[in-house]
Amino acid sequence: MTDEPLLRVRSISKFYGNRIGCSDISFDLYPGEVLAVVGESGSGKTTLLNCLSTRLLPTSGSVSYRMRDGLFHDLYRMSEAERRFLMRTDWGFVHQNPSDGLRMTVSAGANVGERLMAVGQRHYGDIRATATDWLGRVEISADRIDDQPRAFSGGMRQRLQIARNLVTGPRLVFMDEPTGGLDVSVQARLLDLLRGLVHELGLSAIVVTHDLAVARLLSHRMIVMKDGHVVESGLTDRVLDDPQAPYTQLLVSSILQV
Ligand SMILES: Nc1ncnc2c1ncn2[C@@H]1O[C@H](COP(=O)(O)OP(=O)(O)OP(=O)(O)O)[C@@H](O)[C@H]1O
Ligand SMILES: [Mg+2]
Repeated sequence: MTDEPLLRVRSISKFYGNRIGCSDISFDLYPGEVLAVVGESGSGKTTLLNCLSTRLLPTSGSVSYRMRDGLFHDLYRMSEAERRFLMRTDWGFVHQNPSDGLRMTVSAGANVGERLMAVGQRHYGDIRATATDWLGRVEISADRIDDQPRAFSGGMRQRLQIARNLVTGPRLVFMDEPTGGLDVSVQARLLDLLRGLVHELGLSAIVVTHDLAVARLLSHRMIVMKDGHVVESGLTDRVLDDPQAPYTQLLVSSILQV
């Protein structure tokens, strides 16, 4: 491990006209670290995630990423082609709704294989073997490889989306409510699986969730957002066990009461 961060976020703000999406957000993300972004609906979590992953142009601020050459590159000074290359190779993005992150009308195997082809793999047999292996890792049986995701359950689709994202060995994965919309038992299993993969692959990840239990299970550090601002940040266990900001205290206690 290195002492240098993978991602440096400085004073990111995004305004939609007069409305605040997120305001003045700064942090560093280190290799192997999982950061949870929590907060109520409308607090700016998705806005922030999209600004970090170059899916949305921030109004101000900078994000730099340490590429494999060891140098920091300002994401918003790269060419569109360079950003797209990063997205395809070094990064993953897991959408809340799997249909936004999958191609629903091509097979499960092709959904995974496509990402391998994007990084230059050409050998059909190898691609299929790797895809089969990854389906197994996300607990989709090999005999479903030729099925389209629209024939899958919600949980299976989400696991397929995870396989599609991780197959290229990304260094950084963005996730927006990866377990949202799934029923509780499926959520628990998926979280377990995600936690195992993140650990095994030494991934860095930024996980948006409104569910503190997800933050507790997956993340090392967290930031708590309200109305576009960060109201608290710190090690996950510290924030959840000993919240300092009144808003975090409220959030934690209201969860405990459920
Ligand atoms: N495209 C947009 N145009 C205008 N305002 C937007 C747009 N997207 C988000 N907003 C506003 O920005 C604020 C933050 O929204 P955002 O979607 O980032 O919240 P969130 O924390 O992800 O909420 P949720 O948990 O419901 O997904 C909200 O006030 C929202 O109305
Ligand atoms: Mg959101």
